[in-house]
Amino acid sequence: MNKIIFFWVMLLTIAATSCKHEPQDLAIATDDSTATEDCNSDTIYFKNTIQPIINASCAYSGCHDVTTAEDGVILDTYANIIQTGKVKAGKPEDSKLYKVLVENDPDDIMPPPPGSPLSSVQINDIYQWILQGAKNNECLGCDSVNVTFAGNILPIMQTICQTCHSGSAPLGNLSLVTYDDVSAVAMTGQLVGAVTHADGYFTMPDKEDSTKYIPNCKIKQIIKWVNDGYPDN
Ligand code: HEC
Repeated sequence: MNKIIFFWVMLLTIAATSCKHEPQDLAIATDDSTATEDCNSDTIYFKNTIQPIINASCAYSGCHDVTTAEDGVILDTYANIIQTGKVKAGKPEDSKLYKVLVENDPDDIMPPPPGSPLSSVQINDIYQWILQGAKNNECLGCDSVNVTFAGNILPIMQTICQTCHSGSAPLGNLSLVTYDDVSAVAMTGQLVGAVTHADGYFTMPDKEDSTKYIPNCKIKQIIKWVNDGYPDN
């Protein structure tokens, strides 16, 4: 192999392996809970949908709050719901939490009278949530209206772009650390071009599997900030 080509192949190999190619959904992981900004309309989220249903219909005094713990079932937290509600991830039909909702026996159905039964939509939400893995998940929603450099754009650069675009030898010879760095590529159209994968621009952050690496919400925020005239706010 030609020496110069070999040199470049090695350099690219090193560059490729030194950058982390893990999906950065900016998921905020605490214990086993996750919160995402991009809401998937097919996903039923625990914190958004399931917990409110259970709080309103099950986890109150006289029933399944921590003090009453009727039947040993406490439905106040995610961990307790999974454990005492005998939730089997992926298997709603084997999960007590779901089975009691569709119980035929009037003595066993939950919530018991005079409590009002859950609606079919609520029952289906619980079914789907268990089917989808009964995760401790939350969807935060995307704010692409009130976008600032310090509050939104800089954190995107820090968490997604600076893995490659910082330091003494930034990839593409492009540093994205300061406001001046970022506004310079905003001005030329390269910033929006890169993250929207527009024709004629480098697809960022990853050429091969670009779809994974920058959440839609972040793309919308970048576009908004650039359209606002990339203010230093
Ligand atoms: C995995 C490493 C990596 C990440 C992460 C990354 N880039 Fe890049 N970037 C590169 C490389 C390498 C180049 C040089 C072009 C090429 O080879 O694809 C480049 C080039 C660019 C260019 C074009 C520079 C020019 O001179 O035309 C822009 C703009 C850019 N990146 C923006 C971003 C933004 C914005 C992010 C974060 C959303 C990002 N990049 C994340 C590796 C990365």
